[in-house]
Amino acid sequence: MTLKDELSAIAGEAFAAEGLDASLGAVKAADRPDLAQFQCNGALAAAKAAKKNPREIAGAIAERLAARPEFAEVTVAGPGFINLKLTPDFLAARLDALCADGGRFGGWSKETPEKIVLDYGGPNVAKPLHVGHLRAGIIGESLKRIMRFAGDDVTGDVHLGDWGLQMGQLISELELRQPDLVYFDPAAQGPFPEDPPISLSDLEEMYPAASAACKDDKARADIARKATKALQSGRPGYVALWRHFVTLSVNAMKKDYADLEVEFDLWKGEADADPLIPELTEDLKTRGVLEESDGAEIIRVAREDDNKEMPPIIFLNSEGAVGYHATDIATIVDRKRALDPDRMLYVVDARQRLHFEQVFRAVEKAGYFDEARLEHLWFGTMNGKDGKPFKTRAGGTLKLRDLIETVTDKARERLVENGFAEGYGEAETQEVARQVGVAALKFADLSNPRTSDYIFDLDRFMAFEGKTGPYLLYASVRVRSVVAKARAAGAGEAGAAILAAPEEIDLALVLLGFADALRDAYERRLPHLLCDHAFTLAQSFSKFYAACRIADEADADIRASRLALASAVGGQLDLVLSLLGFSAPERM
Ligand code: ARG
Repeated sequence: MTLKDELSAIAGEAFAAEGLDASLGAVKAADRPDLAQFQCNGALAAAKAAKKNPREIAGAIAERLAARPEFAEVTVAGPGFINLKLTPDFLAARLDALCADGGRFGGWSKETPEKIVLDYGGPNVAKPLHVGHLRAGIIGESLKRIMRFAGDDVTGDVHLGDWGLQMGQLISELELRQPDLVYFDPAAQGPFPEDPPISLSDLEEMYPAASAACKDDKARADIARKATKALQSGRPGYVALWRHFVTLSVNAMKKDYADLEVEFDLWKGEADADPLIPELTEDLKTRGVLEESDGAEIIRVAREDDNKEMPPIIFLNSEGAVGYHATDIATIVDRKRALDPDRMLYVVDARQRLHFEQVFRAVEKAGYFDEARLEHLWFGTMNGKDGKPFKTRAGGTLKLRDLIETVTDKARERLVENGFAEGYGEAETQEVARQVGVAALKFADLSNPRTSDYIFDLDRFMAFEGKTGPYLLYASVRVRSVVAKARAAGAGEAGAAILAAPEEIDLALVLLGFADALRDAYERRLPHLLCDHAFTLAQSFSKFYAACRIADEADADIRASRLALASAVGGQLDLVLSLLGFSAPERM
């Protein structure tokens, strides 16, 4: 139970004892932390329903609550808010339990865990990862870790964009450039060479060239469409070439994701769902879901009460080729068969909202999967200072590899400026710089609500003060060093909590608020709520450490309590950082 749940249950009992609905007892953090720790606004709603004076109801509830041992102070404020302050003993007992929580540091867990497939990352083969892919990877990774911690069985799948027209564009591009390669001999059955005929950088150059050519030239686009169809029909030379393209790209992607500390369980892609298409085509026809229209096979997904346009899905185009909608539908069926999850979640750009709505409706219509258990967790765009999607100064998209290098270099500069990492060896300095740079990037991204756009501002992200990744890593290192130094100075062991100073009480409240923050982040699929928690925790610790001695506190019991508080902060902060998806260095 979270602290808010526990208090809500207590307040609920008081409402019930007054003959009112227990749900009126919902307790939340106080709007005015200077006046109270928590508040309950239930008397206002109760009064409205019963046409009574809210202050009167609040008074009766307050009287009941004041008689309970948990509260040090219960007051009625304004039109009927009930303000609550807990006793230090109550908080101390909860804190002792948090410290004895075996590495969960008071973290919340779900009563009925679920099996979840999380589709995130979604990079496309042959295109280098760029900043546009940052959010999908970072937010998805954090949600995966949060859900796992809460008890869910989560399988993260990168779902490569490895099928469809762009592959035909690429294959035909190479065929036009190097028609003599063995892959293009229509009679060739293989085996084909093990090594790819081109390099990764050739591939990265060919991709934009091919898509531009197809955009401008209808005849060229036709060639690409035919190549796509031939690939999807299994022409051996094309399939062999396609494998090379996938391998080259995936190897590069793995390195980028590793640096970002983003890890996938499955490296499946759109192509993996392709074998299901013929069977699904038949099945969808039998179910009366598929319709022929202008030579294409479509699924109508509009509903009577729609107040926006909901175009039908093209399941197979007039060439019989499989597109993005069809691979997503087939992937849902594939995942259901392979893993039988309770839920499938997609961390994908807001610009694909229509796509997912169409796909979810189609699988519901076909009876393949319950629409209510499919969630598109869309996210906003990372913009440049001009408010448009971020571009490099030259106007291109910034490659993720270049961005990682930039933040690592910048972090290195900042570390030196701030006198950190002095006297470390080259390898450690470089690793700390990577950790700090990546934390700056990831925290800046995650600390914005998932659904908002935000502006890319490296200097702000990299600051060691304020709500930034580097500040939090530094806070983590500092807390650990405070604890280690106190221990080394003979401060003894951590002991039972004794809370007296306001800074101790505030810190205890923040630590105990972790369960609520985690549950909110989980239920609303919003990692930024954990960023807020991490930042508040770090700040609260600073205030505590400025006001309260630890190692040189004379009273052994108080010393032991403060050591316990500081250790709990260190443990909880590192836990939250790991749930957000980054690791703190040993020292800095
Ligand atoms: N590859 C896609 C893109 O770049 C994103 C894939 C998202 N996942 C999915 N199941 N459609 O737009």
